[in-house]
Amino acid sequence: MNMNTSLIELTGVIKRFGTHVAVDRLSMKVEKGEIVALLGRTGAGKSTVMSLLMGTTSVDEGQIRVAGVDPAASFQALRGKMSVSFQTDRLLPWRTACENVELGLLILNKSKAEARTIALEWLRRVKLDGAAGKYPSELSGGMRQRVSLARALAVDPDLVLLDESFSQLDHVTSQVLRRDFSEIVRAVGKTCVFVTHRIDDALEIADRVLVLAAPARVCLEMAISSAQRTDVTTMAEMHARIERAIGGDEAAA
Ligand SMILES: Nc1ncnc2c1ncn2[C@@H]1O[C@H](COP(=O)(O)OP(=O)(O)OP(=O)(O)O)[C@@H](O)[C@H]1O
Ligand SMILES: [Mg+2]
Repeated sequence: MNMNTSLIELTGVIKRFGTHVAVDRLSMKVEKGEIVALLGRTGAGKSTVMSLLMGTTSVDEGQIRVAGVDPAASFQALRGKMSVSFQTDRLLPWRTACENVELGLLILNKSKAEARTIALEWLRRVKLDGAAGKYPSELSGGMRQRVSLARALAVDPDLVLLDESFSQLDHVTSQVLRRDFSEIVRAVGKTCVFVTHRIDDALEIADRVLVLAAPARVCLEMAISSAQRTDVTTMAEMHARIERAIGGDEAAA
């Protein structure tokens, strides 16, 4: 991987589903270590962009590079470098929390003992030490989400992709999880792209916010510094700008 280039780079990306254009000449970059939030109204193409990043779908036109390679063409090259955590947590019901976290490590050919050690360490970091032996059905939604996060981070990826990870939780749980998440992601220095419908989430966690208008293209880009985050007035202004950008999208649709 060339360290001088952006970890993610999309140039004039077009993605169609039949005749429907879902992504329209989208260009964006994400630098190593950055936390970027993708916002935009429903159908703007956020999840499609995530699929392109994951390489589960390929671009029709333009270029996409993740760690220097085309993710759809070089799935193998990105194995273990990128991990995803989605709205539906996708935990395997017949595996305990610990075994779910171990899974990605075993796929990466870690020994069972090593996988166990790493999994338990990550469960501790997401504050689930006590629940390692529990099955998903025995965990709350917030706990399952933490397991999912631990699983995503345990493989020590360069890039973490999250799609609406926190939105289905109750307000208090999601707030705590968001705070823990941003702390963990910042502490481990992972590059992260996350999709959210909540402007507050984006402002709280992200270094940069991208608002997508349908079909997916960037209609607002905003960097957020930690100094701005502590200023209530600035935050309110940024919130309003993002809201307008999302709303403008709606009016144009
Ligand atoms: N596999 C598919 N086949 C056909 N059309 C699709 C497919 N996936 C997405 N689309 C269309 O592409 C557009 C973008 O969808 P996408 O799921 O990326 O939006 P989104 O921004 O993630 O929306 P939401 O906020 O509701 O999750 C929508 O018009 C959607 O109907
Ligand atoms: Mg979506």
